[in-house]
Amino acid sequence: MKIVGFSGSPRKDGSTNTLIKRILKKVDDDTYESSIYYLNELNINPCQACGYCAENEGCDLDDSMKDLIKELEDSDVVIIGSPIYYGEVSAQTKLFTDRFYSIFNSKTKNLKNKKLILIYTQANPDPKTYTNYIKHQKKFLYEFLEFDVVNTLIAANLHFKEDLLENKDLLGEADNIALRL
Ligand SMILES: Cc1cc2nc3c(=O)[nH]c(=O)nc-3n(C[C@H](O)[C@H](O)[C@H](O)COP(=O)(O)O)c2cc1C
Repeated sequence: MKIVGFSGSPRKDGSTNTLIKRILKKVDDDTYESSIYYLNELNINPCQACGYCAENEGCDLDDSMKDLIKELEDSDVVIIGSPIYYGEVSAQTKLFTDRFYSIFNSKTKNLKNKKLILIYTQANPDPKTYTNYIKHQKKFLYEFLEFDVVNTLIAANLHFKEDLLENKDLLGEADNIALRL
């Protein structure tokens, strides 16, 4: 089986990447082959709403999303992690998820019942601050696209990676997410 992480944080050693990598490391290696993609380092253009994917199979843009969509398709479990920027996901994450439109319009591909783990990191100490937005994302983006959202980790009070490394509860939550797969 395959588990693939997508990180929307530009900080290579930041909290979002650390949490995703921790889950990937903790999953049973005999069961899962794992990989991680750093969206910030890839060439992902904004959806052009050109209608190509409604008339044809796939997307007309020739960029990294061709490989990422293939990875999504081939995976059994997906992790999407993003830092919260001004109450929303990072631009890198938004560019990535908007491009799921070609899967939404596909006659052959879908994300039905693919297990999805969502990770949101934030500096705000109250994990409830952005729950309306996170619920909205879950319902109108991920469940709309028929992902099976199995876990949502809201990692609060994180300014720097040291904050995460000192937070045994959050690290434990990440480990439990991996163990429950
Ligand atoms: C441009 C920018 C905007 C941010 N906006 C918010 C915000 O609205 N709420 C919040 O709690 N944290 C905000 N943060 C803090 C990050 O979400 C937080 O530090 C996160 O843990 C960083 O994750 P990373 O280490 O993976 O980059 C912002 C950070 C940046 C750079």
